[in-house]
Amino acid sequence: MTRFLLAALAVLGLSLPALAQDNLAQLRPAPTPITDAPRAPGAPFLPGGAADRITLAPGADASRAMAVSFRTHADQTETRAEIGRVLDGPTSAADVRALTGESRIVADADGAARYHHVRFDDLEPATRYVYRVRGLEGWSPWLPFVTASDAFAPTRLIYLGDAQNRIGDVATRVIAEALTRPHDMVLHAGDLVASRLEIAHDDEWAQWHAAGGLNYAMRPQVPAAGNHEFVKIDLEDGSETRVLTPHFPALFPVPANGADGLPDTTFVTDYQGVRIITLDTTSAVELGGLETQTRWLEEVLTDNPARWTIALFHHPVITCARPENTEFLMEHWTPLFEAHGVDLVLQGHDHCYARYSEWRLPAGPEREAAQQALAGPVYLVSVSGYKMYALNDRAAHESDRYGADTQTFQLIDISHDRLVFETWTPTGGLYDAFALERREDGRNRLVEDPRERSPLRVCYGDTGPDGGPCHGSEK
Ligand SMILES: [Fe+2]
Repeated sequence: MTRFLLAALAVLGLSLPALAQDNLAQLRPAPTPITDAPRAPGAPFLPGGAADRITLAPGADASRAMAVSFRTHADQTETRAEIGRVLDGPTSAADVRALTGESRIVADADGAARYHHVRFDDLEPATRYVYRVRGLEGWSPWLPFVTASDAFAPTRLIYLGDAQNRIGDVATRVIAEALTRPHDMVLHAGDLVASRLEIAHDDEWAQWHAAGGLNYAMRPQVPAAGNHEFVKIDLEDGSETRVLTPHFPALFPVPANGADGLPDTTFVTDYQGVRIITLDTTSAVELGGLETQTRWLEEVLTDNPARWTIALFHHPVITCARPENTEFLMEHWTPLFEAHGVDLVLQGHDHCYARYSEWRLPAGPEREAAQQALAGPVYLVSVSGYKMYALNDRAAHESDRYGADTQTFQLIDISHDRLVFETWTPTGGLYDAFALERREDGRNRLVEDPRERSPLRVCYGDTGPDGGPCHGSEK
């Protein structure tokens, strides 16, 4: 009942400030050991005197609005931030505005912490700002960010698949390496943490934040919710359902401009000529949220001023690990992607790497001819964390490029007429690379990148691509 109450309140966007602090101890669910993520709730992750887990998110129009979330000790009941124009000298900021916001308590195995949201509205386009947020015992550092241009401008995006498992010791190296590359915004394709069975996974969120550090505070983060961001809730009648973990809406102050009833997990943001549409496939798959999202998707694709359009969600339309594709997404969303010229679909969930274009055609001359004028988007699946799944029988011939047992991060460079996509491995290998060139008729030509790529990574029998045992399990 306690878990249901907490999660249900979180889903409703409510917090627990009205509950007496004494009651919070009773509200904490007991930690439950699981096998695929190390658990260490307790002191290392407790909120202290300083604000932490500072996370920037883009507004609906990233040239005019951003928002920040941060965590403090539960006793920091005031939500305070300051923002100003950046200065070169140590005075740091000019024209400083003091802002307030809203907060909520999230209670879990690490105790209760307060998460704050502050919205930065009325910003100037293509302008450098600094901001700071208030913890219980003082201010954070002044943290810089830059707003998007209000006209088209080149953009560098990072795309990360599931971090999810062993974030602290295995996924961190990929996330941290990716974030050393110059970039404007980061897209996360869901399953940032493992959670899923219950809400007491504050330790995983702590690891996820440690991996990104202040980078998350200085570049907007765009998160899709994965199935592991939803936790199982036992209802009083003995049945069960899933609700979004309260950490997710607490951590990501996304613009609430999405499908009806899904303000925390569906939203659209425009970033200097690129439209990012984030969808919630867990809701679509398990919770009856397909129709409302399909309606909304059509709206934001029909009325779309952007030059390039990217869809971001968790469950892949075409799967590299599972026996079957996600047919109902293919039935309901793929026709919209094709009719409205979506350029990329970025996904996770399958814990393998794959890139699909004109995938219904056999690889070779027929597919290459169709790639001169793509009928639809290029679909990507990738994984940044520990868990791997074995490739299915279709991946080798349906995809343009595929791989198993490989952690990757992706860089997407978008210029006016050309989008360059690169997939990098931890050893510094360029595992995949292609360009989309915008044709005069508005369609894209897919061009394979001429640079040398690192060798194909697959399992041969029980032997994995690094010579040890094959790591991926069968789905
Ligand atoms: Fe996953």
